[in-house]
Order: sequence, then C-alpha cells, then structure tokens
Amino acid sequence: MHVLSGIQPTGPFHWGNYFGAIRQYLELQEVADESYYFIANLHALTTVRDKERLQQYTLDGAIDLLALGLDPDRAVLFVHSDVPEVCELSWLLMTGTPMGLLERCVSYKDKIAKGLKASAGLFSYPVLQAADILAYDADTVPVGEDQLQHIEVCRDIAGSFNHQFGETFTLPKGKVLDQSAKVPGTDGEKMSKSYGNTLAVFDDPKKQRKQIMRIQTDSRPMEDPKDPEGDVLMDLYKLVATEDEVASMTVTYQAGGFGYGDVKKALADAAERYWADCRARREEFAAKPDQVREILAAGAEKARAKARGVLLRAQDACGVAGW
Ligand code: ADP
Ligand code: TRP
Repeated sequence: MHVLSGIQPTGPFHWGNYFGAIRQYLELQEVADESYYFIANLHALTTVRDKERLQQYTLDGAIDLLALGLDPDRAVLFVHSDVPEVCELSWLLMTGTPMGLLERCVSYKDKIAKGLKASAGLFSYPVLQAADILAYDADTVPVGEDQLQHIEVCRDIAGSFNHQFGETFTLPKGKVLDQSAKVPGTDGEKMSKSYGNTLAVFDDPKKQRKQIMRIQTDSRPMEDPKDPEGDVLMDLYKLVATEDEVASMTVTYQAGGFGYGDVKKALADAAERYWADCRARREEFAAKPDQVREILAAGAEKARAKARGVLLRAQDACGVAGW
C-alpha cells in the first residue's frame, strides 16, 4: 500500500482534523509499504494571504503532526512547496482537465459562497491536488469525507491521461476510516475553522475547558432521561473518553436526573487526559524548531526523488520530453 495525504496549514489543527484525517495517517503509517504526508502550504496560499501567518502555520502544522505521533522513520513528512515537481506535473494534467469537472467541485462552490475570491488557483486547486497524489504513485489517500470528491476528480484526470498517452499513473482510492468521525463543533454544526466552532487539539486545557462549558445544549429539565444518540456532548465525549466511561455516561443519559454541566466537566477532564502526552511532546518539538526543519528537509529530499521519477514518466508519455 502506498499512502499519501496532505493537510492545509490554515490555522491550528482541531479535533475534526485529528479524528477525521490525522488519526488515519497514524494508523496507516504502521501498515503501509510507503507513506507520504505533507503540509499543503501551496494550497493554503489560496486562502491565507499573510506571509508571517502562512510561515507560522506551516511550521506549526509539522510540529503538530510530529507531536500527534507521525513518525519520520516510518513516513515521509515534508512541506508541499519543497517539491516543485508537483507544480510542473499539475500543468501537464491541467491541459487535459475539462472545465466542467472543476465547475462541479463542491468545495470550490462552498468557498465562493463563504465569500472567498474566485481566483484561478482556487478553481484549479483539485488539479494540483491530483498532481500531489499521482506524483507519489499513491494508491490510498486518507482524507475526511468532504475530500472524497477531489479523489474522484484525480481518478478522472489520471484515467483520461492514461487513456490518451498510455498507462502512466496509478489510480488512487480515497479512504475514510469510519463515518462516525464527522466531528461536531461547539455549536453542533460540523467542526470547521471557517465556522469558528472549533476545539483546537493543542489549546491550553483551561481555555479548552471554558470552550467546552460554553457548548450549546438544549434546555431539557434535569429529571428527564435523554437519548445519547446525536447529542453533541456525547459525540465529543466518545472521541476522548474510555469505553467504560462512555458506557457509564450512556446509562446516566438514559436514567435522567443529571445536568449538562456535569457532562461538560467529564468531557473537559477526558479531553485533558486524552491530549496530555501529545501536548508534552509538542512542547519538546516546539523548543527545537531547527530539528523539525531538518526532518522536513530530509522528507523533501525523499519526496522529490520519488516525484521526479513520476514527472519524467509523464513528460515522456505526453511528448514534452524526448523530442
Ligand atoms: P477546516 O474545515 O477546519 O478548514 P480542512 O478543510 O482544512 O478543515 O480539513 C482538513 C482535513 O480534516 C480534511 O481531510 C477534512 O476532511 C478533515 N476534517 C475537517 N473538519 C472535520 C470534521 N468536523 N469532521 C471530520 N473531519 C474533518
Ligand atoms: N485538499 C485537502 C484539504 O483541504 C488537502 C490536500 C492537498 C490533500 N493535497 C492533497 C489531501 C492530496 C489529500 C491528497 O484537506
């Protein structure tokens, strides 16, 4: 299995990013023959238009992934822009990408609806994403559900290139670990940076506790039993509490006679415990940014070597080399 995924450095990672995407990276790095993970700063440039912020988020993203358990001895970790071959590959793909394919992309339409400017970069983003995947002969791409359409676009683009120029690219599969990993935010909607409803993975526990205490709940009377299914607090609790804790909380919900304040407190306690080791590891990496830069440089070297081979194959196939 050849695994690849990228994550945009557009702000601190939140529980949705972790349980929806990053957790899959960590599981797959154990079993994959090869795995590549990158901080997608070229993609983030479509929305983050502030030099210092983009630089900071890029380094922070790498530190976060390492702290969460990404192991550079098992997986290749690098920064997107350190592998310029993908931009060249993306042009080759762009020439064969129908406009209609990109016009149908929901993520582009969503971003425009949220008020982002319709740049050519934002529009053709899925083609660069396709190049990212194809450049490493990746067959497995762990992503959250909302990214599956882009994997399909990648398959379409690669399939038509192969059809026109002969077998050149490996067609990837999107992999969503489990559907329940769609994480709700503090307002009950999908957790997302753009909705301002996130719980950041590495926030100070005190700040996180306050955010948890403010999570919106219904105004059910204390004595009424409550269905734990579909309850925001319970959904979040399931992510960070032990199985026994979840079982006993389920009984409490069904029995009634409890206040949401107690559930929030239990959730904050479980969260603090769940992230404690990663938080400690993060402090260690953050104190040694040059060591992180070295890890990224070594990763970029390996990634470039791989991407260059695939680029040469594609250039040769379509006739921009060997003339
Ligand atoms: P955001 O919506 O906060 O901008 P991104 O779009 O950068 O997050 O998402 C990065 C990765 O995390 C994607 O693979 C996405 O599917 C996953 N992800 C983001 N939010 C959630 C969520 N609430 N539940 C599950 N997965 C999520
Ligand atoms: N588009 C992805 C996101 O917004 C990030 C990304 C860029 C990516 N290139 C990729 C994901 C290649 C998987 C494979 O989350």
